[in-house]
Amino acid sequence: MEMNAPVDETLVDGTTPTVLGTPLDRVDGVLKVTGAARYAADHRLPDMLYGVMVAAAIGAGRIRAMDVAAVKRAPGVVLVLNHDNAPPQGTREPAAPQLRDARIRHVGQPIALVVATGFEQARDAAKSLHVRYDRTTGNFDTADLRVGARKPKPRYGSPPDTKVGHFDGAFDNADATFDRVFHTPDQSHAAIELHATLAWWEGDAVVIETANQMLKEAHASLAATLRLSPKRVRIVSRYIGGGFGGKLDVCADALLAAMASRMTGRPVKVVMTRQQVFFATSRRPQTAQRVRLGAGTDGRLVAIGHQSWGETTVGDAFWEPAALGTRMLYAAPHRLTQHRLGQRNKPRASSMRAPGEAVGMLALENAMDELAEQLDLDPVELRLRNEPARHPETDVPFSSRNLVACLNEGVGRFGWTDRNPKPRQRREGRFWIGTGMAAAVRGNPTQASTVRLRLHADGHVQLQTSMTDIGTGTYTILTQVAAELLDIAPDRIVVELGDTAFPYGAGSGGSWGAGSSGGSVYDAVSRLRQRLAMQGGIDIATARFRDGALTDGSHSLSLVDAARGGPVEVIGELKPGKNSKAFSQAAYGAHFVEVGVDADTAEVRVRRMLGVFAAGRILNEKTARSQCIGGMIFGIGTALSEQLVMDARYGSFINHDLAEYQIPVHADVPDIEVVFLPELDPASNPLKSKGIGELGISGVGAAITNAIYNAVGVRVRDYPVRLERLLEAMDRAAT
Ligand code: MOS
Repeated sequence: MEMNAPVDETLVDGTTPTVLGTPLDRVDGVLKVTGAARYAADHRLPDMLYGVMVAAAIGAGRIRAMDVAAVKRAPGVVLVLNHDNAPPQGTREPAAPQLRDARIRHVGQPIALVVATGFEQARDAAKSLHVRYDRTTGNFDTADLRVGARKPKPRYGSPPDTKVGHFDGAFDNADATFDRVFHTPDQSHAAIELHATLAWWEGDAVVIETANQMLKEAHASLAATLRLSPKRVRIVSRYIGGGFGGKLDVCADALLAAMASRMTGRPVKVVMTRQQVFFATSRRPQTAQRVRLGAGTDGRLVAIGHQSWGETTVGDAFWEPAALGTRMLYAAPHRLTQHRLGQRNKPRASSMRAPGEAVGMLALENAMDELAEQLDLDPVELRLRNEPARHPETDVPFSSRNLVACLNEGVGRFGWTDRNPKPRQRREGRFWIGTGMAAAVRGNPTQASTVRLRLHADGHVQLQTSMTDIGTGTYTILTQVAAELLDIAPDRIVVELGDTAFPYGAGSGGSWGAGSSGGSVYDAVSRLRQRLAMQGGIDIATARFRDGALTDGSHSLSLVDAARGGPVEVIGELKPGKNSKAFSQAAYGAHFVEVGVDADTAEVRVRRMLGVFAAGRILNEKTARSQCIGGMIFGIGTALSEQLVMDARYGSFINHDLAEYQIPVHADVPDIEVVFLPELDPASNPLKSKGIGELGISGVGAAITNAIYNAVGVRVRDYPVRLERLLEAMDRAAT
């Protein structure tokens, strides 16, 4: 089915769901905790070789010489794959061709793969590979992102710039104005699972067991890059240990393993080291963002301007769409958004955990807090006064939007009105206490997705799609969708994911996975219903699945009987259709945070977090909650610790492991309360759900820094908070 109009009555409506929406435990939970779920690096094959990547030690220049001969003599070494012997490759995103030439574009760029019969042999030989370079002056310096930045090409179906009304005049004449620049740093996805691939050839076709979020794109790009017909490429990613965007790209491990396997005629496994993941995969690129807000004394915005300067790797086109959320969040007649892009000799920039909103909302929601203070308005009230009736730039209706309800619910639950808006008023022991809030928004795109549904004679139902589960719960929610619609027990559903031998799925990215693939399961069940109605002479108008049969009250056909002559098979499909343009589709939320700031050390402790979200139908109360909690924890990292630190002399990140790249640990995470408001979105998909994967992180970092301001009177506009700066500013604020 195609989403060309809002859905009316669906198969889920008119009943109270008993499986869908419930907090069903993960159906793959036992497999995971017992180690039976095999991740890419767990696979092994007889006669398998091990490949270890060698990374460029310089940030820009060329390889002058590589002493391959010496390494080839090392014990067990079978192949040293490098730019001299690598096969020619095509180009198609999201794969980046490997070992193309002698040019070094960034530190850590893979320059060789040493392949040996044993892992230790390969590692030892890789370490001893002697490389001489011709160094050139790298473009590493990112002190001022505005220098040399140009307008990028449209991406994500969005132009880099938008304009409504006359921003400049409206801003200049506004009663109250805000105009500041914010900085957000380079960040690393930091998924637990390392990027890993086992590749082997079956005749003239390659099989690639890897960790990738979006197999349809990976399949097309791998085939094009390896110059193979897509029929000769199969990708398998059954279990993925976190992606966060870092596994949207087809990384070096997959391409190098495939090439090395072809050249050696044996299976080749490549597992990146943790350090290699920091350089040879991708990162979230830093931004400088100027936010300008102009408002009347009544607190109504007349002008909103959001400009972002970012950077990408030389030769790449990715830009961080920081102002996307700003385009839809608040009403104002005069508006301007702009993205500019510079090129650097730095590791690849790509999508990470809500690309766009995650960093853009930091700036916008800090700006709103500052403006509220200037207007002597409660920050929640400022948002309520600027709630738009329709999309403020495109003027299309919202498919559903409950930001106001989220804000109001949060105010009550959090005890927001108890706060003193004046900073440095609340002290408990050595801590200054403060509270802050921010709105959350994340676009809800739908991607085309298909699934094969097979009804078997023993009554079990098999679902197959190349959709992935990156730890978010896809196996479980697809089980729930099918069990609910067919009215059979969840343990009668067998979901098989992550294999391009299956009908293509939407993949895990951009928060579209559950709605898109769940919608395809809905379509498959509708088709099965039609098929069985015909087979059993059942009135399609009233036919319902009940107690293991399709029935219209007078006639019925049991699922077992239907499949007696052989499995019944249907293909379900969901396509985005006209609703993608006809409606503004996004999920909304509100974050409320309480922090304590140590008066002597400036250490920030997040004490309490509340997230209230409206994201359409919640498909699984437990996995949805976990995703939001996870997103809010990302926000703690964003505000307080996560940052790749560049050594601009060498173009290298000095913190490139999980000891030095600091993500929140258990001790950093307080009680987190997540509340979902009831909402159904008839324009999104037949389940009326909306994306939730990246909603939790959007805005939350700003709620934390707004709370820091309320605690100690210091505005943080340069992320993450650094203690030495905060401490210094606190001293200044105190005098
Ligand atoms: Mo997401 S950053 O599209 O995995």
